Amino acid sequence: MKTDTFGHVRLGYVLVESQRLDAWRRFGVHGLGLHLDAEPVEAVAFRMDAHHRRLVVLEGPAEDVTALGWQLDDAGILETLRSRLAARGIEVTEGSAEAARLRGVERFWRFTGPKRLSFELFTSPILESAPLRMVGSGFATGAGGMGHVAITSREPESFLEFWQSIFDARVSDRIEDRLDGIGFDFTFLRLNERHHSVAIAATRGLRMDPIRTRIHHLNLQAASLDDVTAGYLRCRELGFRIANAIGQHPNDRELSFYVESPSGFEIELGWNPIVVQDEHAWQTARYRGISLWGHQPMNLDAATRVRRAARGLASLARPEFTPLSGTPR
Ligand SMILES: [Fe+2]
Repeated sequence: MKTDTFGHVRLGYVLVESQRLDAWRRFGVHGLGLHLDAEPVEAVAFRMDAHHRRLVVLEGPAEDVTALGWQLDDAGILETLRSRLAARGIEVTEGSAEAARLRGVERFWRFTGPKRLSFELFTSPILESAPLRMVGSGFATGAGGMGHVAITSREPESFLEFWQSIFDARVSDRIEDRLDGIGFDFTFLRLNERHHSVAIAATRGLRMDPIRTRIHHLNLQAASLDDVTAGYLRCRELGFRIANAIGQHPNDRELSFYVESPSGFEIELGWNPIVVQDEHAWQTARYRGISLWGHQPMNLDAATRVRRAARGLASLARPEFTPLSGTPR
């Protein structure tokens, strides 16, 4: 089967495991301005648009993102991905009806992705017609999906190969920067018109992973600049730790801030990233500096710096799981 899946895959939902469900409820509704699904008792579930579920927080010990749901246009794309995964020896299994209901999809198929994140494929989200109850004006989703994820990897070459060979990802651009004394290379991958659905961060030289959680951040795109500034003020007033103040990235030109979620990974709430409308005209660029302006770090106290340095060093002793390695490590 020879199908290019580019343009047919987008981030559909994100699953989190946490023991801080009350904090997540408060963070989601009053901080980020998401719609809380009143129905479930076993989870805190949020809507952003017509999809029944976008962000689902289950009770559990991980305090981390555990699964990324990828929405596919149709059964043909699903078949293409399944055959590519099978050819690489990656086992794909169907999730149970109960697990599908929890995720707000009709059916889904899963495999173990980079960093042991559950990668979940689905074609049919459950949609809702009930109006959204949110403090802001809404979120931009559509053909570009619900946002993007940024992941630190000690195996960035394998990570990139995974995305390119399985999902037909295209490199939008690259950024190099020095953050807190450490050199970083960032690679931005697009799966559709969204400038990037995935960003890979890798330390220069010795490959370290100073981040406890599997993802560094999940980006959600607010519908207006006012939603971003109001969200920033709300998160600050509610006492959620701002990681980076409002600023702008040089590549996708998104205006955004970063806030620590109750599980430790960050949420980037942004507005107005560029959309890649003309694939033929796109030029892959390289930038110096992750931000054009702003994004001032707000949470790098001495204790955090020491903790990250210790985690970075400890990560050297742990191989990172990559799905293409053939044998699970
Ligand atoms: Fe981002």
